[in-house]
Amino acid sequence: MCGIVAYIGTQEAYPIIIKGLQRLEYRGYDSAGVALMNGTLNVYKRKGKVQDLLDFADDKSTKGNVGIGHTRWATHGKPDDLNAHPHVSSNGRLTLVHNGIIENYEPLKKALQKDGYTFSSETDTEVLINLIQSIQDHDDLSLEEAVRIALTKVNGAYAIVVLDKNDPNKLVAARKASPLVLGIGEDELFFASDATPIIEYTKKVVYLNDLEIAVANRNGEFEIRTIDNSLTTPYVQELEMEIERIEKGGYDYFMLKEIHEQPKTICDAMRGRMNASEGWIRLGGLEEHSNRLVNADRIIIAACGTSWHSGLIAEYLFEELARMPVEVEYASELRYRNPVITEKDVVIAVSQSGETADTLAAIELADEKGALIYGIVNVVGSSIARASDAGSYIHAGPEIGVASTKAFTGQVTVLTLMALNLAFKRGKISKTYYHQLLTEMEAIPGKIEKILKSNSKIEYIAGEIKDSTNALYLGRGYNFPVALEGALKLKEISYIHAEGYPAAEMKHGPIALIDENMPVVVIATNQSAYEKIVSNVQEVKARNGKVIAVVTEGEKIISQMADYTIEIPETLEPLTPLLSVIPMQLLSYHIALMRGCNVDQPRNLAKSVTVE
Ligand code: G6P
Repeated sequence: MCGIVAYIGTQEAYPIIIKGLQRLEYRGYDSAGVALMNGTLNVYKRKGKVQDLLDFADDKSTKGNVGIGHTRWATHGKPDDLNAHPHVSSNGRLTLVHNGIIENYEPLKKALQKDGYTFSSETDTEVLINLIQSIQDHDDLSLEEAVRIALTKVNGAYAIVVLDKNDPNKLVAARKASPLVLGIGEDELFFASDATPIIEYTKKVVYLNDLEIAVANRNGEFEIRTIDNSLTTPYVQELEMEIERIEKGGYDYFMLKEIHEQPKTICDAMRGRMNASEGWIRLGGLEEHSNRLVNADRIIIAACGTSWHSGLIAEYLFEELARMPVEVEYASELRYRNPVITEKDVVIAVSQSGETADTLAAIELADEKGALIYGIVNVVGSSIARASDAGSYIHAGPEIGVASTKAFTGQVTVLTLMALNLAFKRGKISKTYYHQLLTEMEAIPGKIEKILKSNSKIEYIAGEIKDSTNALYLGRGYNFPVALEGALKLKEISYIHAEGYPAAEMKHGPIALIDENMPVVVIATNQSAYEKIVSNVQEVKARNGKVIAVVTEGEKIISQMADYTIEIPETLEPLTPLLSVIPMQLLSYHIALMRGCNVDQPRNLAKSVTVE
């Protein structure tokens, strides 16, 4: 997740690019850079926010009518000045900004190194710019042709803009799986990751399609070709948006946007890490410590908040699939309890921000006791990522809404891959089931898309229960942590008191609270404990509770008993949480909105809890 802005025309490029990058900072803000052509090429890059770049370039020449800029959310290589974009090719001629991941960068890099190319950063992007250079050098091609051929050789995702020092009258841009918009002004053209940097200069835009390459000329003319080199007729659209809204990608709140991003972020969490048809899972960090993990006495998961709920799902996954004993700990409890941890244990820290003070302290303690520390983190280069011996990023992109949504499903995705990989290595899972689970993992994003289409139904249900003062969430097995997460979401953003409970535990206490005013959300998709949960729903209905049931498509029994039903597609049981949590997120979002709450910034909460 990075932001790109580029300009070619008659105005000064630098202020346009800087302003644009600041609008795109929600996409990443660990480093920023610009390349500007004014007879010579000036490249300025800085770790930190766009403001840090601005301060750095304050006393430097920022003149030029053509330039490219970038705000980074690190994937390959830590956030620092060297890894910041733009990246320059070995011969100093080409400059590139990139949003995405070049998955096959390693073999490409090795081949280029053999040919004498040198690299100054750890990024996949520097590989791409040198690949373009090598093609251009070899056949003396135009920039656009060299870009086109280079892109036929890469796997992964990209939105790129390239500037050639020897031909500063054009910019070449392309996209695949990462967004890129072309803005068409009077004698000027813009590129950006979304329309926010463009909107005050022109409302005429073209959203590039996957595998399209655009050439923008200084005279304001442009041409778009496919990667197969056929000319396309671009669809020019008029923007009808307020800046405020499109910063959130057209959504009213970051939380809603992040809920809708999940089909993509789950793909990003799996990208390059598994292949169902070939039957492999490869988590870089895990391979290195494979023996220690496979032979561990025990896995201890330390986390807080929503991340703790992901950890609880992982307990079910690791135990069932890999037959490994697991303990899930609130990091704040673990750190102060003088726990028994040995060098035969593996401690998995789960954290979106990678900065949660209690989780960090818990892993420092476990590290002193000799355990292997494995981090499942979203924010690249964060403290927990750095304090871990190994780990896997979830690649969910910046999560701005304080109530975590896409980070949760990203964590569960990576933990599922980890459990499956260990199950396979420990010989605890049949080949058939392993393959079925991998195949089903690939189907999850599509199934989430389907659930998101139930949004208006969920909104209606939200309207029916929005005035409640309490709510109960019930689930069994894999859906028990989802019940906890559903209740937490509701509490966090709507300020309704809510409790999550294992469905069968209800009769040991919460059943006393049930009356006609008590909404009871029952996550009833389980295959294995299905009859049991039917009984639990009956117990609630016998006391006049209002049941909102989440069931598998086509389910008949609970659907008839419940007051409201939300259907989700069928999946294999260990993967259910990735689907059943989506209605929980949407329900709390709509209830909070109807109650006039600030959905993105709920009172008293923070996104990153760096105090105990
Ligand atoms: C805060 C956030 C939660 C998050 C928790 C743990 O409470 O509001 O959304 O789940 O911290 O944060 P972490 O960054 O470690 O996942």
